[in-house]
Amino acid sequence: MGKVVVSCGMAPSALGSVPSSSPSSGSGSKGGLPPCAPLLGGRVAISGGLGALGLLIAQWLVQQGVQHILLLGRSARTSYAASQQLRQVWQGPAQATMAACDAGCAEDMAAVLAPASRSVHLPPLSAVLHAGGVLADATLRNQSLAGLRKVMGAKVAGLPHLLGAAQLQPGAHHVLFSSVASLLGSPGQANYSAANAALDAAASAWEQAGTPAQSIQWGPWKTGGVSAKQMSPENRWGIC
Ligand SMILES: NC(=O)c1ccc[n+]([C@@H]2O[C@H](COP(=O)([O-])OP(=O)(O)OC[C@H]3O[C@@H](n4cnc5c(N)ncnc54)[C@H](OP(=O)(O)O)[C@@H]3O)[C@@H](O)[C@H]2O)c1
Repeated sequence: MGKVVVSCGMAPSALGSVPSSSPSSGSGSKGGLPPCAPLLGGRVAISGGLGALGLLIAQWLVQQGVQHILLLGRSARTSYAASQQLRQVWQGPAQATMAACDAGCAEDMAAVLAPASRSVHLPPLSAVLHAGGVLADATLRNQSLAGLRKVMGAKVAGLPHLLGAAQLQPGAHHVLFSSVASLLGSPGQANYSAANAALDAAASAWEQAGTPAQSIQWGPWKTGGVSAKQMSPENRWGIC
């Protein structure tokens, strides 16, 4: 099977205006500004921040100069490998904190995404990356309501809370971690495809309503995470 690579330059307007105080250099910078310049000076919260992609993105943000990162997960516990990655984040000047937060729980989300005025020492949120996700793969005939609730609970249930945070902190950018399964479908992942399609639709609706939002349909990452937790190829094709 071939591969289609679509390259899309980041539209500056999609991330709001670039602060004049942004550093003039950074790794991966274009035209002197790092790609996440609009996020500098603010706090970036990552739901699913202790997962495979969340930690990678946190490392990348720190390399780009983001100083305040909030890593969210239901358990706020890390594996040994994750703690090694976290050490790299903590070795730099950035302040990275972890908090137990279920993205689908209104109270949890309100507490961690509260405007900075309530958290004296923290800058305002400049972005929320929603990377929380779980799988409940099953062939179509074995799909269940419980599986659907599990997958939707991690990805979709928190969307109103994210939107609420956006309304309290205008300008904060929202990036939803969707999957190419939303676009192409994926055997055994009807629930997951539907959940990701909901993220895509939400980002599109928010953007049209003036809330800066993007949904990224990631392909499988080599580093593992959910792509390593999918059901076996035999199961995926309904062979067993
Ligand atoms: N890895 C890939 O190849 C790939 C490809 C396409 C899309 N994606 C998407 O990218 C996102 C991150 O994937 P990943 O590979 O990093 O997965 P991962 O390693 O399994 O991490 C997912 C994280 O989400 C957290 N989580 C689950 N439910 C949550 C909830 N209700 N509230 C808050 N956090 C929750 C989990 O922590 P707790 O269990 O502690 O809550 C876990 O740390 C997912 O949304 C996934 O669908 C990944």
